[in-house]
Amino acid sequence: MNDKIPRLHFANLPTPIEHAESLAKHLGLKTLLIKRDDLTGLAGGGNKARKLEFELAGVVKGGYDTVITIGGQQSNHARMTAAAARKLGLDVKLVLGGEEFDEYKGNMLLNKVLDADIRYINGSDEDADLAALMEEWTEELTGEGKKVYALPIGGSTPLGSLGYVYAIKEIREQMGDIEATIILPVGSCGTFAGALLGAKLFMPRATVTGVSISRTKANILDRVRDLTRGSAQLLEEEVFIDENTIRVYDNYHEGYAVPVEAAQAAIRTAARLEGLLLDYIYTGKVMAALFDLTLKGLINKEIPVIFIHTGGLPIVFAGKHTGNDYGKCLKYSVNDIRSIRNK
Ligand SMILES: Cc1ncc(COP(=O)(O)O)c(C=O)c1O
Repeated sequence: MNDKIPRLHFANLPTPIEHAESLAKHLGLKTLLIKRDDLTGLAGGGNKARKLEFELAGVVKGGYDTVITIGGQQSNHARMTAAAARKLGLDVKLVLGGEEFDEYKGNMLLNKVLDADIRYINGSDEDADLAALMEEWTEELTGEGKKVYALPIGGSTPLGSLGYVYAIKEIREQMGDIEATIILPVGSCGTFAGALLGAKLFMPRATVTGVSISRTKANILDRVRDLTRGSAQLLEEEVFIDENTIRVYDNYHEGYAVPVEAAQAAIRTAARLEGLLLDYIYTGKVMAALFDLTLKGLINKEIPVIFIHTGGLPIVFAGKHTGNDYGKCLKYSVNDIRSIRNK
């Protein structure tokens, strides 16, 4: 394996793995573990810290002065890229999609604090629209004599995905080569692709289950194919991932930033039983999926489930929660969640 790939250090590693005993009991799981990648550090933490360690290594060496990237209005990737760029002494430009707004909340507010220069596309979260505006802005900046490093949506490149190859290696070092179900959110796919490759290389007895927060399964498989191939090449490893064995669900979302009732219920239950904060765009959907899949008998209850908490705390401060009525939390049992989903 090529272990010489340049890497910076943004994340406090290893991140802890915590037992969620009450939630495990609630779901009937023997062991539920939370891999706390929300605690990486870097302006609030999250999965992107691991990706950026690889992504931005070339920026420093290449003499770039500006980093530009794209994302949804509440993109954690954008916030963390802005923080990493600032830490490296670079300028930062963000192209963000989403609805019209009249207030800066959550990640939007933090982007302001980080003094990122931002252009918004109101009414679209489409990758292609965001990428087109990024290209236009990059040309403009290059014309002004800037040396611009452009990062695609979510920082999901073969290089960025290496962050999650090594995250699985880290779990192997913490837990050993155990049989386990690893479950995580799938957005731009780099985290999932890295984890799939990492499991092949370091935890062959574990399976990785992805829960889409916005994309279709077909789109995810396309992206994962390219990303895993590219990352394996960088590592100089020959790895075959049989697409038929990839477990990914695309039925727990109704669009990127659309709150789903089952996720809201899962967020409240995790908060009530574990003091664990999840967000409505990413990790809340995964917890709702875990509830539902467990209920349907699609999760092996006897082996540990490792829920990768990929961060997103600032989104909690962006609203769109119905979570204030804590009295109602425990009224949502697993069965209620099933009926909510079937409504
Ligand atoms: C909190 C959080 N979880 C999960 C993801 C999904 O990761 P990826 O884009 O690598 O699929 C993101 C990315 O935007 C995120 O911000």
